[in-house]
Formats: sequence, C-alpha cells, structure tokens
Amino acid sequence: MLGAALPVEAKLFGVDLSPHYIARAREILPRDLDVSLVCDNAENLPFVDESFDAVTSAYLLHEVPAEVRARVLAEMARVVRPAGRWWSPTASSSPTRRSWSARSSPFLRGSTSRSTPAT
Ligand SMILES: C[S@@+](CC[C@H](N)C(=O)[O-])C[C@H]1O[C@@H](n2cnc3c(N)ncnc32)[C@H](O)[C@@H]1O
Repeated sequence: MLGAALPVEAKLFGVDLSPHYIARAREILPRDLDVSLVCDNAENLPFVDESFDAVTSAYLLHEVPAEVRARVLAEMARVVRPAGRWWSPTASSSPTRRSWSARSSPFLRGSTSRSTPAT
C-alpha cells in the first residue's frame, strides 16, 4: 500500500530511538522501497535543512512530553522544504492531541499539515 502511493523514485528515511522498532520496520517494509532506517533521536534529526518533500511522525507525538513534542515538531519543520507536506497519524483525539495539533502550525512554516482522523 505504501509503495503504491509513492513515485517509483521516492527515497524514504525512517528514524526511531528504538533498535527493536527499527528491526521490526525492516522486517515489514516492502523490499522494493528505497528506505534508509536510522536509530536516532527525532529531537535532533540527522538531516540537513529543507531536505525532504514530506515528513511524518507515526504514533509518536502523543507519547512524549510537551517539550519533546515541540523539539520534534521543530526538527520536522526544519528538514521539510518550504510548502512541503507534513502529516502525523496519532492514537487518540484527546485534548492533548488537539492542543499540540493546533500549536504545531507555527513550527511548520508554509507547509501543508493534515492529521488523520482518530479511529
Ligand atoms: C507507539 S510507537 C510507534 C512506532 C512506529 N512509528 C509505528 O507507527 O508503529 C512510538 C515510537 O516512538 C519512538 N520514540 C519515542 N521518542 C522518540 C524520539 N525522541 N526520537 C525517535 N523516536 C522516538 C519509540 O521508540 C517508539 O518506537
């Protein structure tokens, strides 16, 4: 499904603090995708400014304290190109989520943000 939604030349990077999640991602991601997985901290992404067309964080932002969330969002905003895309699937429609979602826009200069509906 992921591969079908992307251009064939798409180059993907994934970051997680946990080597276990990195290993699991390696197991389940389609082999035909060009994906580099990095065990690192999303608060200090190992990528240059404005180097991505789109960024996402999957089920991360609701898990971390507000100050970490702010640093992660700032890093996502730093590495996405101006008017690039951002979206962030998350696990709940809690007041916390609505709060960070509303506050995230200043971090995302000119980018398009979209949250998936809560399930
Ligand atoms: C609920 S899991 C989601 C994992 C995966 N993204 C998914 O969608 O299945 C939250 C993940 O966030 C990672 N995480 C927490 N803080 C992080 C940080 N500062 N930088 C990178 N990853 C972090 C954890 O290691 C964990 O794998």
